[in-house]
Amino acid sequence: AATAAHEGHAVPDGAAVPSELMPDTAIPGGMPLRPLVRLPNRSRRSGLFRARLVAAPTVVEMVPGVKTAAWAYNDSLPGPLIDATEGDIVEILFINRLPSATTVHWHGLPVPPDQDGNPSDPVPPGAERLYRFTLPEGSAGTYWYHPHPHGSTPEQVFRGLAGTFIVRSRHDPLAHLPEQHLVISDLRLARNGAIPDNTELDWMNGREGQYVLINGQREPEIRVRGRQRWRVWNACSARYLRLSLGGRPFWLVGTDGGLIGAARRMTELLLAPGERAEWIVDAPDTETKLIALAYDRQKMGDVGPERDIVIATVKGVSGDAGAIPDTLRPVPALGEPASRKRVQFSETMSMENGRHEMKFLVNGKTFDMARIDLVSRRGRIEEWDIVNASHMDHPFHLHGTQFQVVERVRGGRAVPEPFLAWRDTVNLAPEETVRIRVVQAFAGIRMFHCHILEHEGQGMMGQLRVE
Ligand code: C2O
Ligand code: CU
Ligand code: CU
Repeated sequence: AATAAHEGHAVPDGAAVPSELMPDTAIPGGMPLRPLVRLPNRSRRSGLFRARLVAAPTVVEMVPGVKTAAWAYNDSLPGPLIDATEGDIVEILFINRLPSATTVHWHGLPVPPDQDGNPSDPVPPGAERLYRFTLPEGSAGTYWYHPHPHGSTPEQVFRGLAGTFIVRSRHDPLAHLPEQHLVISDLRLARNGAIPDNTELDWMNGREGQYVLINGQREPEIRVRGRQRWRVWNACSARYLRLSLGGRPFWLVGTDGGLIGAARRMTELLLAPGERAEWIVDAPDTETKLIALAYDRQKMGDVGPERDIVIATVKGVSGDAGAIPDTLRPVPALGEPASRKRVQFSETMSMENGRHEMKFLVNGKTFDMARIDLVSRRGRIEEWDIVNASHMDHPFHLHGTQFQVVERVRGGRAVPEPFLAWRDTVNLAPEETVRIRVVQAFAGIRMFHCHILEHEGQGMMGQLRVE
């Protein structure tokens, strides 16, 4: 059981994408954006967040009159929002009513390794377990949770298991702004309403569906009164989101691990699978669109503006434009590293059983739960060179902590990162090296992997042991 369940998938020669797909507009659009369902805190004690989270099969009606069998947390798609505060103790009683083993991984949160839903720590079908951890000071940010079972993360996520987690600071300089939450996910539906299995092509390129949903809705309408703070999650298995508000400027104020030093004006932002961002958005004077601009992940040069996807309509309502402070919060640079590491992502084509198979590798190997790939020391600053020796983009993700990107090296040229930010996921363009600085706070085993879930699922993942 030490090798990934989906290692080495055959390269198809014909059309492997199911032809019997639900039409693109079968899910009705244009409805007002629904707020996320919240996970109620059952504790009366301040400083304690206590709740129950149940993963179970459910039936939803995405297309009117058509039943879709999905898997969900607390029957909610996306899963309920956990909204907690720095310093809180979090106790989640997790109940697995799925027909398979699963885990709950707290993506980006600094939780101890034995509470982080590692693949080596499954919750069997019918079982329950308590996840318990403390949210340290400084951890305010935008996180999410999803299953991380050995070999089947992709299926469990594309059937609907993923939810959001916000950690708040008591000294939040943007607390005066109303918030809007946008969980962007991807869904493929067959014509009969079923969520189909991955094809061989999905295992290679990552799965994309015909629908890009926000909070489970197709092309919702978002109303911005005055000025809003948006938290945006890329919860897609493999889809890159190059987001634009029809060319209008917005402000980037936060990344995965919370606020950056100062707001940065932008007109588009690339969010790789797994990444999150915080924006400040002003009410547009005329209706505008939130667009996922075409993105050429495989650098085949075959992606033009005809591949842009409108994912929401944005309407402005006049109201208060709360001020954006000049400084948001200090992001102190991690100091000189005491040690260095190198992680290389690559792909290889091999001939197996008379078929060509594509394999995705980390430092030349596929995942093995019995193997430790790298060793770190608790509290030590390290610099990691993450090298993409493959021909497509891959988002690198490391568990347990937030890191800082120092520079990116492309074609032999090092470009210093323009601003400091806390991240747990960073995109690697083909032939690019991203240099990060990182410190782990807990001893134990941490995963690092590509966040295209099909790549993770077939073993583009390694284990770090922190001593
Ligand atoms: Cu969101 Cu190991 O993943
Ligand atoms: Cu993670
Ligand atoms: Cu990948």
